[in-house]
Amino acid sequence: MSGDPNRVALISGGAKGIGAGIAARLARDGWRVVVADREPAGAAPPGGRFVVCDVGAEAAVSALVASVAATERRLDALVCNAGFMIRKPIADLSLAEWSSVLTTNLTSTFLLVRAAEALLRAANGSVVTIASSRARMSEANTESYSASKGGLVALTHALAISLGPNIRVNCISPGWILTKGPEPTAEENAFHPAGRVGRPGDIAGLTAFLLGPDSCFITGAEFVVDGGVTRKMIYPE
Ligand SMILES: NC(=O)c1ccc[n+]([C@@H]2O[C@H](COP(=O)([O-])OP(=O)(O)OC[C@H]3O[C@@H](n4cnc5c(N)ncnc54)[C@H](O)[C@@H]3O)[C@@H](O)[C@H]2O)c1
Repeated sequence: MSGDPNRVALISGGAKGIGAGIAARLARDGWRVVVADREPAGAAPPGGRFVVCDVGAEAAVSALVASVAATERRLDALVCNAGFMIRKPIADLSLAEWSSVLTTNLTSTFLLVRAAEALLRAANGSVVTIASSRARMSEANTESYSASKGGLVALTHALAISLGPNIRVNCISPGWILTKGPEPTAEENAFHPAGRVGRPGDIAGLTAFLLGPDSCFITGAEFVVDGGVTRKMIYPE
């Protein structure tokens, strides 16, 4: 798929934030990009196609992948990025809320990869999942999110073993990536060993590498992209 101007990438949750950054980067690199998002007001980058889809819903994912097979007629890359967090004390977290986070953040990757396996195999394609540094460290009241992201890291290596050598599957675990809200303070930037909070482009650059030919010996791996925060030892003053 090196340098092929017809190569196709499907990105879940690409209407905004990190997913939109990945979509824009891949489009600039010459990919044909299909963005799937449950937000109807979303859009794809120039030359791409936008599909409204709840990637936690089995029938919607089947229809999405069928539309890629019919329209783009190939799939070289899948980026499983859709995700969200509920912060609530566990005593107040309903089973429906727990399940909604697990469904979008974890089950959607199962559904997307299962539906797209034949297309990805035909293209010797590559999958990138977007987990989180919260797969291995937590703030209070984030049980469903942390569990979903830990599951996603494990699902990534399971898929890499099952689908190789045709399909490579890797995971990026971002730390704090600024997608909304105010600019970080000087103190927040300085807290990061890299000197700043992350931006969507920091994740998009690694995604482009993991989908491309220069990473062909890498599969089943997790890359923590957090400006060094999870390597920082912290004791009370
Ligand atoms: N921003 C961060 O600091 C950060 C850190 C670690 C991990 N992440 C992960 O990166 C991914 C993107 O995060 P973001 O900050 O860009 O979020 P965001 O809220 O800005 O964007 C997420 C996008 O996913 C879409 N989406 C959510 N559920 C969906 C579903 N069921 N079906 C289809 N689309 C759906 C939303 O509509 C939205 O467009 C998420 O998986 C998130 O957990 C983000």
